[in-house]
Amino acid sequence: TPAVRVAEWSDVRAWWPRLGPEEEKYSRGVVGLATGSATYPGAAVLSVGGAVAGPTGMIRYAGGARADVLRRYPSVVAADRVNDAGRVQAWVCGSGLGTDERAATELRCVLAAPVPVVLDADALTLLVDGSMAERLRERDAPIVVTPHDREYARLCGEPPGADRVGAALQLASWMNAVVLLKGDRTVVATPDGRAFANPTGTPVLATGGTGDVLAGLLGSLLAAGLPAERAAVVAAYLHGLAGQEAARRGPVVAADVAAALRPVIARLSR
Ligand code: APR
Ligand code: MG
Repeated sequence: TPAVRVAEWSDVRAWWPRLGPEEEKYSRGVVGLATGSATYPGAAVLSVGGAVAGPTGMIRYAGGARADVLRRYPSVVAADRVNDAGRVQAWVCGSGLGTDERAATELRCVLAAPVPVVLDADALTLLVDGSMAERLRERDAPIVVTPHDREYARLCGEPPGADRVGAALQLASWMNAVVLLKGDRTVVATPDGRAFANPTGTPVLATGGTGDVLAGLLGSLLAAGLPAERAAVVAAYLHGLAGQEAARRGPVVAADVAAALRPVIARLSR
């Protein structure tokens, strides 16, 4: 197995985007989220909750949970469909999206955009059946996939097993994508064979919706211009710390993790 680098706070600090005095909202990047649905509006709210903690200047939401997102985050610009959402510098797709015809169409539109994308949850399910996986290899812009172990098993035909680094590297090379393999030992792997182990996190994160928060934060970092593997390492690290921070205050639901990202990220500029 190749060398694995353990991600460090100093990496996160060095890679987090700094704001210059001449910044304006578009220069900070615009992230788009094609997440949630009428059935799973919470996934939309949680993924946007991850994105608002990130460095971008603007957030566009495209999906079936507009009202829920806008009630919670009035600064978001919302549309029903990806193709009506306007330009973004990165897309997040899949969390709570569903796997129906509409969801498949939205995923196709996201993949057709010439910008980095995060594919999570239902987007990964949609990739398993059909021609979608082929589309990935034709794509020039970076892709980050964020499977948990069962999603990994659906994509690869077998679970990651004990060698999580090897498993993540194999999927990264096969998909030509950065892989953020989630779990108690989260690993980031690149198509060119590099791997990072994430040292933060807590089993408290094993609660519904925390993965949606991670996907949103990751998308914001991509839209801000971080290279895909740095965005994945930074998002996993800060998400794990936010879980630890939230756990200090008592029992945790996913919205608490999104809220805890703020104080954790504030430490970056100290
Ligand atoms: N220790 C540390 N971190 C953990 C642990 C653990 N024991 N268990 C889970 N985590 C972290 C993961 O690393 C990840 O960041 O919690 C997050 C869980 O993300 P997901 O597995 O995506 O879980 P969730 O947000 O509930 O997503 C559930 O995903 O499987 C799909 O469609 C399904 O709607 C469902 C959704
Ligand atoms: Mg998930």
